Amino acid sequence: MANTPSSSSPFIREIIAERVSRRSLLKGSLASGALIAGGSFVGSLFAGETHAAAAQSTLGFPELKRVYDKTHAAAEGYETTIVARWGDPLAAGLAEFDGNKVAAEEQEKRFGYNCDYIAFMPLPKGTVNSDHGLLCVNNEYISPNVMFPGMTEGDAGKTMTREQVDLGMAAMGHSIVEVQLKDGKWETVADSPLNRRITANTEMTVSGPVAGHALMKTSADATGTKVLGTSYNCSGGFTPWGTVLTCEEGVSDIFGGDPKRAPIADLLDRYGFDGSDIYGRGRFHDRFNLDKEPNEANRFDWVVEIDPYDPQSRPVKRTALGRMSHEASTVVLNKDGRVVVYMGDDDYFEYMYRFVSAKAYDKANPASGADLLDDGVLSVARFDADGSMTWLPLVHGQGKLTVENGFADQAEVLLKTRFAADALGATPMDRPEDIETNPVTGRVYAVMTKNKKRDQSKVNPANTRPENLWGHIVELIPPGGRGADADHTAENYAWDLFVLCGNPKDAKVGATFHPATSDNGWFVCPDNITFDPTGRLWVATDGANDFDLPDGVYGVDTEGAARGLPKLLFTCPHGAEATGPCFTPDGTTLFLSVQHPAEDAATLDKVQTLWPDFKDGQLPRPSVVAIRRMDGQPVGA
Ligand code: FEO
Ligand code: CA
Ligand code: CA
Repeated sequence: MANTPSSSSPFIREIIAERVSRRSLLKGSLASGALIAGGSFVGSLFAGETHAAAAQSTLGFPELKRVYDKTHAAAEGYETTIVARWGDPLAAGLAEFDGNKVAAEEQEKRFGYNCDYIAFMPLPKGTVNSDHGLLCVNNEYISPNVMFPGMTEGDAGKTMTREQVDLGMAAMGHSIVEVQLKDGKWETVADSPLNRRITANTEMTVSGPVAGHALMKTSADATGTKVLGTSYNCSGGFTPWGTVLTCEEGVSDIFGGDPKRAPIADLLDRYGFDGSDIYGRGRFHDRFNLDKEPNEANRFDWVVEIDPYDPQSRPVKRTALGRMSHEASTVVLNKDGRVVVYMGDDDYFEYMYRFVSAKAYDKANPASGADLLDDGVLSVARFDADGSMTWLPLVHGQGKLTVENGFADQAEVLLKTRFAADALGATPMDRPEDIETNPVTGRVYAVMTKNKKRDQSKVNPANTRPENLWGHIVELIPPGGRGADADHTAENYAWDLFVLCGNPKDAKVGATFHPATSDNGWFVCPDNITFDPTGRLWVATDGANDFDLPDGVYGVDTEGAARGLPKLLFTCPHGAEATGPCFTPDGTTLFLSVQHPAEDAATLDKVQTLWPDFKDGQLPRPSVVAIRRMDGQPVGA
């Protein structure tokens, strides 16, 4: 590629020199006794400037005080609206929702469970309207212990009835609902013809290099190109041509049977299949039983493209984007028109990936995006100690990706993405969750949520803490310049650790937030992130409950004097994680999924909250919340 810098390019040398000089500064700070630990320099830059730096945070709201409570909370000056709850009707004529009684067939017409990634797709299509659009929301999984009386998480797979199993299949997947802002409050349009559910039963097409491969064929589909449904839809992305990408994040525990007896036992093992069948599907549906249909497993863990503007459209599994526990699929339109997708494989010691399309997208012709994601190069990230990183291409015939090494063709490289990445020497990460690009600086932020399994012998330059219970955020710096000038197709980037998370007052933790970070501002276990239109990072957390703290949403400056200084905007109710943060194009609404409220209860009768309705006899309901400033100005301003 003509615009690819070599590893000794001026760009990389310049960035590394800058990094080294900042590390010298770090040493100086340590010598003077500043509270700095870990491998990052974020805090060190501003040691001794605490008060001045705090005053320079661009976040204007008074920080929320952290309380782990039955209900949610937002900073003073902000208001919240529950926009869409589990069970809300997506069609006309449905009865009032009762979570104790809902059946699978009806659930197919109602908003799904455990909401996750959110895309706000403006209406009409092609506009940047911020008061009317489609909320496209993943429904990642179900929580049987707070849905069905007497059931525990551990026994659900063995005790769920056929009706409960089918309800679960209908409650997972994706929900599309039309929403409107009226008098400052968001509401759904329950009878919109654009409303739609996509579930484990929705017909989908397989496209790209793996379509039709022998390992994709089952007794129900001799073509290897038609799959029924999607599951474990976690994070995602959206494209310039108006489609939504939903990520299948590791279906290994929803299959029954014995993976060790399957002809593809090694492949199943590398993808974590253990026959645990935690939602009982394998007992009632042969396709989820590995003893009967081992290849069905290969038809999941892909990125699925959905056209939310056409309710008749068939979702497409885009195999060129690789197979993994897909967390995110953030799309960037590179300055040369090629489309770049950043992806994380959210599992212990798994990798970060990037796809670059072969062809350019033509903005004047949205139809040119139709099959753009079927043809391109998937690469995996290697981080080096000198502050450079390399994208290693997963291309059949190159390097170790040969027939002799078990990769018959490009389809097998993609089907066995993890094996291929192992062979190339990619850097094992601390569970890569979301990856997003700052629209102002062009820098890319990759979230490592945590990794309790890493011991001292396994630390590496980009994952520096053994037994990392707190997570961290890696900053990738593409060459080319700021914003739209950044070259997201380059082979080499620079990188740094943006922040190591955890309590900065606990020296053992080694957190590296800005020194002015308050007792309410530091966070653990970052998961999903997004950027507001001015380039501030917003972090949603998943795991604070383990520290007896609420999960929540924090705004963080990424440059300037307050770089790395988080402020708490929103906290979740008991047991819930914050996920799927998504701004309207004008930045005045921040949508957020509050996932699995009360899920920490062993059984339904032990729940600590019935959020958000608090109705006796009813169930907690995962819901999408809209957060707005009371005066309608942009969030965070
Ligand atoms: Fe579904 Fe990786 O969080
Ligand atoms: Ca997570
Ligand atoms: Ca997540």
